Amino acid sequence: MQLSLTKALTLLVCTLLSSATVPTKTVKRADSSQFVTTQGSNFFVNGSQFPFIGTNAYWLQALNEEQDIINTFSNISALGIKVVRTWAFNDVTEIPETGTWFQLIANGTTSINNGTNGLQKLDMIIKHAESFGIYVLLTLTNNWSPSATDNLTASIDGLKSSVQSRAVVDTFNSSRPRNFLSNDYGGMDVYVRQFGLKTHDEFYTNQTLLNVFMNYTTQIVTRYVDSPAVFAWELANDARCNSSVAASPGCVAQNITQWHSTVAQHIKTLDPNHLVSSGTQGFLCTGCQKLFPRPTSPAQPSARAVAGRRSVAKPLTKERIIRERNEQWKKTRALLPKSQQESGEGIRVRGRWISTPTKRQSDSQGVGSAFDGSQGVDSEDILGIPEIGFGSFQLFPDQNSYGPDDPSLSAFNNTLQTGINWITTQGQIAQLFDKPVSLLGFGLVTQTNAPDFVPFNSTVAPFASDTSTAVSKASSTSSASSANSTQTFGVTDSEQDTAYSSWLNAGISSGVSGLIQYQWSQGNLTTQPDTAISPNNDTTGESSNSDTTGESPNDGYSIQGVGEDTVQSILQNAVQSVSST
Ligand SMILES: *[C@@H]1O[C@H](CO)[C@@H](O)[C@H](O)[C@H]1NC(C)=O
Ligand SMILES: *[C@@H]1O[C@H](CO)[C@@H](O)[C@H](O)[C@H]1NC(C)=O
Ligand SMILES: *[C@@H]1O[C@H](CO)[C@@H](O)[C@H](O)[C@H]1NC(C)=O
Ligand SMILES: *[C@@H]1O[C@H](CO)[C@@H](O)[C@H](O)[C@H]1NC(C)=O
Ligand SMILES: *[C@@H]1O[C@H](CO)[C@@H](O)[C@H](O)[C@H]1NC(C)=O
Ligand SMILES: *[C@@H]1O[C@H](CO)[C@@H](O)[C@H](O)[C@H]1NC(C)=O
Ligand SMILES: *[C@@H]1O[C@H](CO)[C@@H](O)[C@H](O)[C@H]1NC(C)=O
Ligand SMILES: *[C@@H]1O[C@H](CO)[C@@H](O)[C@H](O)[C@H]1NC(C)=O
Ligand SMILES: *[C@@H]1O[C@H](CO)[C@@H](O)[C@H](O)[C@H]1NC(C)=O
Ligand SMILES: *[C@@H]1O[C@H](CO)[C@@H](O)[C@H](O)[C@H]1NC(C)=O
Ligand SMILES: *[C@@H]1O[C@H](CO)[C@@H](O)[C@H](O)[C@H]1NC(C)=O
Ligand SMILES: *[C@@H]1O[C@H](CO)[C@@H](O)[C@H](O)[C@H]1NC(C)=O
Repeated sequence: MQLSLTKALTLLVCTLLSSATVPTKTVKRADSSQFVTTQGSNFFVNGSQFPFIGTNAYWLQALNEEQDIINTFSNISALGIKVVRTWAFNDVTEIPETGTWFQLIANGTTSINNGTNGLQKLDMIIKHAESFGIYVLLTLTNNWSPSATDNLTASIDGLKSSVQSRAVVDTFNSSRPRNFLSNDYGGMDVYVRQFGLKTHDEFYTNQTLLNVFMNYTTQIVTRYVDSPAVFAWELANDARCNSSVAASPGCVAQNITQWHSTVAQHIKTLDPNHLVSSGTQGFLCTGCQKLFPRPTSPAQPSARAVAGRRSVAKPLTKERIIRERNEQWKKTRALLPKSQQESGEGIRVRGRWISTPTKRQSDSQGVGSAFDGSQGVDSEDILGIPEIGFGSFQLFPDQNSYGPDDPSLSAFNNTLQTGINWITTQGQIAQLFDKPVSLLGFGLVTQTNAPDFVPFNSTVAPFASDTSTAVSKASSTSSASSANSTQTFGVTDSEQDTAYSSWLNAGISSGVSGLIQYQWSQGNLTTQPDTAISPNNDTTGESSNSDTTGESPNDGYSIQGVGEDTVQSILQNAVQSVSST
């Protein structure tokens, strides 16, 4: 890779600036390592800045043939994409007859499968990633692994239960094969159940489980410690207090932060080569006490120098969130026709007339669940952990709220705008902490994809019977919880395209140094009965596959089918845009 003059100058300038003005802080030099390193809020590889656009393919290990992995990497690579996020865990409670599995967790013991349907699958992924020059971001466990055996009515007093129906249904009212859904690869709750524990958060706090999980990370991390194809170790997808196994009332963000610190330290002692990241959704907690110190102003002048046109980072406070929201709402309100601004008649929101917002209304809504710690995650505190190399966040408006809706905007424009705000906020956190922050998964369910959509915390496709794809209707962003299978869910393809390009642009211009779309689609895959790529298990209802080739799983976010080319070209444009900055 060529080191452009501007990049070289920027590097030089920030190295000089930071070493000259902040002598107390050790500044890692961006060396020519093939491993991904960081300096300030940027990634580096081979001595050059490495901002990236990526894609998710949790199912890579579930593909049946080596050639399928090669074909997938080949297509991803053709767009210029260099980072792929995938699962590096696959926990089972009994040895399955078909398909891939990595770890048996049963009755309080664990064992690893290093066979051809075990870790050798991951070996294959790493080997081909190396040959394609692709970096894989390897996730070590999952917050979500709903099971039919979870006791839905369990009601230990005060438990924060968060359980939906466990029935496993799809469009054809038949079971999805194991490993089809991202939440069907095992995870935290499998450890909890198999070690006879009761609450989800015991995964984070019980010393036995901590040791057992760190034992798993040891096996995986030491296996690939020397591979430059590993982008980083991601501790867990979407770690938080609650899951389908309920959390204890005492679970708070600090417990999750502490867990990240312990496991990150463990991995760093085994593997000095690779970065460690969190994998949380990036939820914040403005009011939480911190276990790790939070900078109150940008750590280094270089952060600003590199940021250039970006706004200077300010500490995130409740007051600031509400003030900035009020300012933004005032601006959008000013764009409404005069009659609506002044008449007090209100405006139309999702087909209902409501009064125009006042400052008081906006204040009274508080900061919202993405900022108030109610998810049990404080991603600023996690970013403060010395062993955490970069921050992570996700953006799934169909499943999470990132702030109250601006009453002057349509539902879709709110989805768009709150997404942009969320990304911008995370970019500011990167500047403040002087560490990179990356968007590790973003997606929006389209009306076409709605029948396949299964929320991450569930095994049910709530809109499976909703086959009305042609209905032209104001896009809905109602959360999946208020699912009503007779209503059209999801945005139009063109709204999805607008959102994806806007979010990518927002990330690139606000200093988010990596953006990974969720999720890739690959066709022409080898089928095998009772695996994630089973014959005739195409749930899209689109072009039917033959018995010998199949499509990668679709959980509602796959880019397969209508609009695939457009999403691919949006990603490709973003790749070109980050390569030229
Ligand atoms: C775990 O224990 C149960 C009940 O004793 C038994 O049925 C099951 O086979 C055991 N699982 C494994 C993998 O040993
Ligand atoms: C560590 O993992 C290995 C392989 O899965 C297993 O054989 C061993 O019992 C585990 N040790 C502990 C303490 O869990
Ligand atoms: C798998 O692990 C076992 C037990 O550690 C070891 O004896 C065997 O050589 C390993 N096989 C492969 C293919 O790595
Ligand atoms: C870094 O250099 C290695 C070895 O030359 C090469 O294989 C790899 O693709 C380079 N990575 C990037 C991102 O340029
Ligand atoms: C589920 O939990 C409830 C409340 O704790 C209990 O009464 C019930 O027996 C449990 N059901 C099963 C199947 O374990
Ligand atoms: C932690 O989990 C182990 C294994 O299930 C259990 O024996 C132990 O009692 C738990 N510790 C606490 C403090 O609950
Ligand atoms: C969870 O964190 C709180 C606050 O730091 C602490 O008091 C509590 O002991 C932690 N819980 C466990 C089980 O470690
Ligand atoms: C599952 O997610 C939906 C949003 O998609 C939310 O409304 C519901 O409360 C969640 N339930 C669980 C299991 O956390
Ligand atoms: C949504 O935003 C776009 C672009 O800013 C604007 O043209 C459009 O009128 C807005 N739509 C609604 C219904 O607010
Ligand atoms: C779903 O929508 C239908 C038709 O609008 C309505 O009759 C029904 O009550 C709704 N169900 C729920 C659970 O909201
Ligand atoms: C489909 O896959 C087969 C086997 O991997 C490969 O030979 C063939 O070129 C692929 N066809 C297309 C159109 O990608
Ligand atoms: C889909 O796969 C599952 C599990 O492999 C299988 O039981 C089911 O029959 C398949 N569905 C169809 C329509 O073939």
